[in-house]
Amino acid sequence: MLGNFTYCNPTKLYFGKDALENLHGELQKYGKKIVLVYGGGSIKKNGIYDDVVKILQDEGKDVAEIAGVMPNPTIHKLREGIDIARKHGVDLILAVGGGSVIDYAKALAVSVHCDEDPWDKYFIRFEEPSCDIVPVGDVLTMVGTGSEMNAGSVITYPEKKLKIDHVFADESVMPRFSIMNPVYTMTLPKYQMIAGIYDIFNHICEQYFSGEDDNTSDYLAEGLMRNVIEASRKAVVDPTDYEARSNLMWDATWALNTLIAKGKSMDWMVHMLGQAVGACTNATHGMTLSAVSLPYYRFIMKDGLPKFVRFAKAVWNVDADGRSDEEIAAAGLERMKTWMQELGLVLHIKELGATEDMLDDLVNGTLILDGGYRVLTKDEIRDIFRQAM
Ligand code: NZQ
Ligand code: ZN
Repeated sequence: MLGNFTYCNPTKLYFGKDALENLHGELQKYGKKIVLVYGGGSIKKNGIYDDVVKILQDEGKDVAEIAGVMPNPTIHKLREGIDIARKHGVDLILAVGGGSVIDYAKALAVSVHCDEDPWDKYFIRFEEPSCDIVPVGDVLTMVGTGSEMNAGSVITYPEKKLKIDHVFADESVMPRFSIMNPVYTMTLPKYQMIAGIYDIFNHICEQYFSGEDDNTSDYLAEGLMRNVIEASRKAVVDPTDYEARSNLMWDATWALNTLIAKGKSMDWMVHMLGQAVGACTNATHGMTLSAVSLPYYRFIMKDGLPKFVRFAKAVWNVDADGRSDEEIAAAGLERMKTWMQELGLVLHIKELGATEDMLDDLVNGTLILDGGYRVLTKDEIRDIFRQAM
């Protein structure tokens, strides 16, 4: 294992069917003024809103709401929320929803007491907060992003066709607590469920496809990937399978709470390509990743051949007998494609609304990172998008 690192993750997790009971105790640690943040209304339909509001009332809280946080939350919605939170005064931001709502809550947390423009400061200059950070807690309703136990926040500026991810270094941006009841995820439409499943899988890939040393993180990654495959196959057949849904929830958290990135560099180019697609089309995050993954991995396979061989054998049980390394690696990616088709994932960006005349914006919107097996050129990125069309 190479590299120097620090590992600290302060988020307290409450997991299981009775997890929400713990909201009482958590709320008692903060002042009266709560800003409740949620999305487009799913929590009102499935009853989670009523349960949370009842607990807030029981604890005597004074609550202001920011409703309607959209998937891929925008800077404009953030500005609206900053005004609400400032007027109310806020001791705790309680996010009830998926990654979009929790990411939004974190961006709000670092902006309420900040005099500068949050877009420029956090998403263009990538600065750390220089003001007080409002604590965030959450009740998770959709799995995939890992936002419940990390310091990432992704905000979109639609007019600029930019979708930018800031992973804050300051641990106080992470949720103080996350309430994780797998039953809550069962009302997700299938499209969102499988998009979240692929998001989990790809988070692991982004941290796995890098480096040449023997590294504990890669073994943890393989175990998580094997469980995502197993549990996802069960969950698509029976979305009410508690065991499968709870495994997926826990896999998602460990896939992106920085543990499996320790001691290694990381790739993250599928996310950079996918975020460019998201900025141009506003498509569902996990689907943008599934649509660009196979062209990208096929393209870099030769650069990271030993790892792709290991992936084929350890994750996809590819039989190596009589095959060259390239054949083994390619067979691994074929099995991955079969699994993606089995789930019903989107494999072409055209299906998400991307068109040939968006190619310039797609290429220009892709941040080029250097932690993986190949540093892409703009022409190569264009080729990958063409393959993904
Ligand atoms: O808005 P509502 O009505 O609540 O509906 C949501 C939304 O339409 C619905 N939903 C959520 N829970 C539900 C439910 N519907 C029925 N029953 C439930 N229990 O699902 C839709 C999608 O929700 P969203 O929060 O957008 O999905 P996700 O969790 O995938 O979050 C996506 C956002 O997270 C960012 C993405 O870029 C995207 O903006 N990411 C955040 C990361 C991080 N913080 O580390 C990393 C990821 O790679 C990702 O980039
Ligand atoms: Zn993701």
